[in-house]
Amino acid sequence: MDQIRIRGGRPLSGTIPISGAKNAALALMPAALLTDEPLTLRNLPRLADIDTFGHLLNQHGASTHTQGSRPEDFGRVMTVRAGRITSTTAPYDIVRKMRASILVLGPLLAREGRATVSQPGGCAIGNRPIDLHLRGLQALGAEVELASGYVRATAPRGGLVGGRVVFPQVSVGATENVLMAAVLARGETLIENAAREPEIVDLARCLVAMGAQIEGIGTERLLVSGQERLHGATYAVMPDRIEAGSYACAVGIAGGEVLLAGARRDIMEATIAALEAANVSVLEERGGLRVRRRNGLAATDATTAPYPGFPTDMQAQLMALMCVAEGASVLTETIFENRYMHVPELARMGADITVSGRSALVRGVPELTAAPVMATDLRASMSLVIAGLAARGETVVRRVYHLDRGYERLEEKLQAVGADIERVADD
Ligand code: EPZ
Repeated sequence: MDQIRIRGGRPLSGTIPISGAKNAALALMPAALLTDEPLTLRNLPRLADIDTFGHLLNQHGASTHTQGSRPEDFGRVMTVRAGRITSTTAPYDIVRKMRASILVLGPLLAREGRATVSQPGGCAIGNRPIDLHLRGLQALGAEVELASGYVRATAPRGGLVGGRVVFPQVSVGATENVLMAAVLARGETLIENAAREPEIVDLARCLVAMGAQIEGIGTERLLVSGQERLHGATYAVMPDRIEAGSYACAVGIAGGEVLLAGARRDIMEATIAALEAANVSVLEERGGLRVRRRNGLAATDATTAPYPGFPTDMQAQLMALMCVAEGASVLTETIFENRYMHVPELARMGADITVSGRSALVRGVPELTAAPVMATDLRASMSLVIAGLAARGETVVRRVYHLDRGYERLEEKLQAVGADIERVADD
């Protein structure tokens, strides 16, 4: 396992290229199962989770060819072709590594009429149930049984039938699974209280490029007219709004000025509002977002919420920034029940944070002190890197495989803008 070493205190300046969005890519890849023609995805980020998903698709019988990118390039082009599905089982040993594997359930049901997918189980940030996925698919006629840790789902003999799906609470993954099932169901499907995350807009637009008929894209009401079949397409993955927000927090804590190349303001409004309130200016210009810390960091409150609210995936990164802000801030996590694993690690660096129920009170301190810390989950790991950029001394972050799941070549991107950061093999 590698570790990342950061010597804090250096301001950042230059350009950071923003990669394709992990959470869009992990929904676009299973969409390839909906057709026997090739789906070519451009601007796919080089991440461990993308590789894992490729292996999962291979074991369903789909081919995955990566083409045309030099090692030094960011992103890559991948063509997925599910000419014939040879297995409708997603095995535990893959699903346990990446819960997004559950997103093959809807497409396999729609294409093959059956699917056996290991239940993803929980992870560091919560127990992550899939009841909303299953109820949504049942509304399209699927029979679902849970046996020995697997979901066994079967469609009616004539295939899935369009229906009305009303989600009692917003779920990104459940919306994606049901949407991918509905595009091949017979008749119309109305999805109400659908998640509105930009990554779902990306998936819907890709499905439309494949011949799907979807109305209400970007709203909480999606109306899908099922098609007999879908065809192949070429689609470019949207930029990663969480990666961009994470690096904006890095500039905020380290100081300096950086252009986030490819970042889009229109999908980051809540994140930008929080950064601006913290005295981190984010200005749109041709080619991306220019981030600069004005004078001292100011404390600001934030409560996570489904899109367009403040993203739960940005909570840990903003918390790191607030650790050295002037004043006290209250961060409230409403989406996951255990997303404060970064708090004890930040405390080891001298942060003053008190968690009470779903809220964390962060009292700004003048300076953080470097320490050996442990990454526990993807976004917690990034909050430790952000803290390390401002901490006095050398911070060592262990278990950085968490980071590799969501941040493409992180240390290279930060080195290029002046950070004193390196990856070393863990002794
Ligand atoms: C997606 O997870 C993202 N992952 C997460 O990003 C993100 O934090 C989350 O959406 C919320 O935005 C991917 O897109 C691969 P949910 P997902 O279903 O789909 C509960 C990251 O760091 N729920 O919207 O699993 C659930 O427990 C990752 O990039 C049910 O109760 O999130 C949670 O409390 C972390 N039943 C809430 O809903 C269900 O059937 C929101 O979950 C499904 C979810």
